[in-house]
Amino acid sequence: MSPLDGSLDEHALKELIARELGGVRDRSLGLTTEVLEESELTGQVSPLMSPLVWDLAHVGNYEELWLLRAAAGIDPMRPEIDGLYDAFEHPRSERPSLPLLSPGEAGEYVSTVRNKVLDSLSRVRFDEENPLTAGGFVYGMVVQHEHQHDETMLATHQLRKGAPALLDPPATSPIDPAPAAEVLVEAGPFEMGTSDDPWAYDNERRRHTVDVPAFRIDTEPVSNAAYQAFMEAGGYDEPRWWTPEGWEWTRSTGKRSPAFWSREGAGWVRRRFGRVEPVPPAEPVQHVCWYEADAYARWAGKRLPTEAEWEKAAAWDPVLGRSRRYPWGDSYEEGRANLGQRLLRPSEAGTYAPGASAYGVRRMIGDVWEWTSSNFHAFPGFRSFPYKEYSEVFFGDDYKVLKGGSWATHPLAVRNTFRNWDYPIRRQIFTGFRCARDAA
Ligand code: AVJ
Ligand code: FE
Repeated sequence: MSPLDGSLDEHALKELIARELGGVRDRSLGLTTEVLEESELTGQVSPLMSPLVWDLAHVGNYEELWLLRAAAGIDPMRPEIDGLYDAFEHPRSERPSLPLLSPGEAGEYVSTVRNKVLDSLSRVRFDEENPLTAGGFVYGMVVQHEHQHDETMLATHQLRKGAPALLDPPATSPIDPAPAAEVLVEAGPFEMGTSDDPWAYDNERRRHTVDVPAFRIDTEPVSNAAYQAFMEAGGYDEPRWWTPEGWEWTRSTGKRSPAFWSREGAGWVRRRFGRVEPVPPAEPVQHVCWYEADAYARWAGKRLPTEAEWEKAAAWDPVLGRSRRYPWGDSYEEGRANLGQRLLRPSEAGTYAPGASAYGVRRMIGDVWEWTSSNFHAFPGFRSFPYKEYSEVFFGDDYKVLKGGSWATHPLAVRNTFRNWDYPIRRQIFTGFRCARDAA
């Protein structure tokens, strides 16, 4: 069942929303008050990340703003805390020194908000004339927002030092280890973005035709083994593989391997959620920045795909002549992608073969976010909705587009049209990449 199935009447949609609100909250608490001591919730592991207790109360404050005040017309509960949890008033580095709610107060605040949301849900009409409530949009926005923060909180967990706090289920076994290959995507137009997905963000809109020259794209993301070959070939010492900014980044930071890797004997180990283990050769490389991805691709005689190439390879069905919501079809199906934090890792090449796109490209959704060569810009006819701080203020050449979600992304928070973005130096997110090249 998905909000996309037009078959859902308002009552069934509200039941789905209540269930999804419950599910995401279980995860938020499982990443915060249920597993960490007070000092770990209020402390900061990196200036790049908020204290976890900030994320928790911020999620509740966002829910209060949009579902209680905007959708249900309920008066502010605690207007004096709004500023503390406004992401634009205080950069992440400042957040630990703010007079934040304590973990106990934050837990109480978010659960009070939630109870009021569930109480008011049956009263709020999903008026199809009101874009805020049509198709349950604003509820979908709030559910996705909490999922996005759960992924951010997981990046905080990955950066934290100390004993493991999270359960680490065993990896999925490969079922179809077809060798890594590339496929041809023929020249021609495809439909990019969406106009009818009720829970899509403003930046995914509207659907528009893009004519894409023929290109080839790898069927799998770049593996740890392949990336290690680049390192061993002296990739980090060869300016010709790097853009000037990328070369400057490696010289000034001294980085010479993905984040969380270190040498042990002749090989490499990585730290993953507090556990140190050999780097698994067949998993996609993750925790590389855009500059590293771009340099690897040049060394391999390839390049990063553009955002349009990535989306065409994932979404376009050349037989039906239309784009699909997921690589494998229009509805979400379990077992086709490594999503939702069921594992704490990407899966090896050969897993999730049933999730391939019409072109036979695998694991585009899930496993690792994938860097594209494109900067984050508005689609033609873009209109910010419902607030310009979600996407519009980030448009421009400072950010690179990431596609496909990671193993840490919830199924409701990703689809072929979903667009993520980050600075080209960022490595704490669960990001890898795949390569492409011109077809000629
Ligand atoms: C879409 C992941 C870039 O975390 O900065 C969370 C999502 N927006 N709260 C971010 C978001 C507001 C956003 N990203
Ligand atoms: Fe947020």
